[in-house]
Amino acid sequence: MRRIMKLTTKTIAALALSTSLASAADVEVLHWWTSGGEAAALNVLKQDLEGQSIGWQDMPVAGGGGEAAMTVLRARVTAGNAPTAVQMLGFDIQDWAKQNALANLNDVAAKEGWDAVVPDALKAFSKADGKWVSAPVNVHSTNWVWANKAVLDANGIDVPKTWEEFTAALDTLAAAGVTPIAHGGQPWQDATVFDAVAMSAGGPEFYKAAFIDLDEKALGSDTMKEAFDRMAVIRGHVDDNFSGRDWNLATAMVINGEAGFQMMGDWAKGEFVNAGKEPGKDFVCFRFPGTQDQVTFNADQFAMFDQGGTVSPEQAALASAILSPEFQSAFNVVKGSAPARTDVSDAAFDACGKKGMKDLAAAAASGNLFGSMAHGHSAPASVKNAMYDVITAHFNGEYDSETAVVELVDAVSIAK
Ligand code: GAL
Repeated sequence: MRRIMKLTTKTIAALALSTSLASAADVEVLHWWTSGGEAAALNVLKQDLEGQSIGWQDMPVAGGGGEAAMTVLRARVTAGNAPTAVQMLGFDIQDWAKQNALANLNDVAAKEGWDAVVPDALKAFSKADGKWVSAPVNVHSTNWVWANKAVLDANGIDVPKTWEEFTAALDTLAAAGVTPIAHGGQPWQDATVFDAVAMSAGGPEFYKAAFIDLDEKALGSDTMKEAFDRMAVIRGHVDDNFSGRDWNLATAMVINGEAGFQMMGDWAKGEFVNAGKEPGKDFVCFRFPGTQDQVTFNADQFAMFDQGGTVSPEQAALASAILSPEFQSAFNVVKGSAPARTDVSDAAFDACGKKGMKDLAAAAASGNLFGSMAHGHSAPASVKNAMYDVITAHFNGEYDSETAVVELVDAVSIAK
């Protein structure tokens, strides 16, 4: 006790100063990374900043896909109390940039040469009117399937390469009394599945025409009906308690062998990593059958809200930390995504991570890289949400496939 009492007034004053400085150098970050794997990845960023004595004020808003987070953001900005930085996807970044709400990151981008190392597909969303307005953290993709290896082996199932092989595997598991597909019945998850199913049914030209060009013929085509018919097959292979299930609880069903497959973006890989599981031993990752040559991507970015006309030192430091090659490797190894920079080695990544990086580079080079409709990279939020409504109504049996196609054409024409 006496030792503690020896603290001089000078020391106490110094402590008080350092605390106040730390609070001044805090960043408040709004995000939706609340699952085990996501939190583990986020810790890499928090620790990186703490190493630069930048404190982290956490503002988590649970809800996969970020809809809830974007609702809270709008309320915060309306109240004149924008966070320092916000996790944001694709078209949402562009929408906020159009409202002149985002800080200009050009100085740090120029100093660190972002233009040369961030791929064009990401820059299309990170920049507005020649200004960097967000710092890209990663590149996720949605057309993945995650499988429990022991369940596949026990049922003599090889990695399916075609829709027909996939449905045969689903039927084999159903006959064996194993839940074929672990799924969470939430609009953003139904849409995430739809990304891959539509690409598989119609191929890249169809996907681009329907979800990026919003071409009415493609949206109302027989191919779109086939996509909905395939969604009905998927619906017939999920368990009875799928409705409302969070995505990471569906991932846990595959991790624990309660289900064979999950169709989900590669943030699911972060759950396997967080559970200490190894690709090739405990689980298998593969592209949704029929989309092996394509990648439907969504990049997480941190948009920095304008704090009175200039980018704050903390925002610049956060942006710089995010784009550092060391962080890009350490974070994405845990998150399940590929780096947002093309010059990061895949040495630290596991087999699924290496495949993700290789697929991304190949798809970008061959014109097979497309923005994910489900995660805000193919069209603005109004169109995305209109698509969500139709896809989920169909998945829940409110529409048959013909009706879903008509409703999709109408909903998109109203929303765009
Ligand atoms: C995506 C996001 C991922 C992950 C996922 C589940 O939109 O890009 O980082 O958070 O949602 O919530």
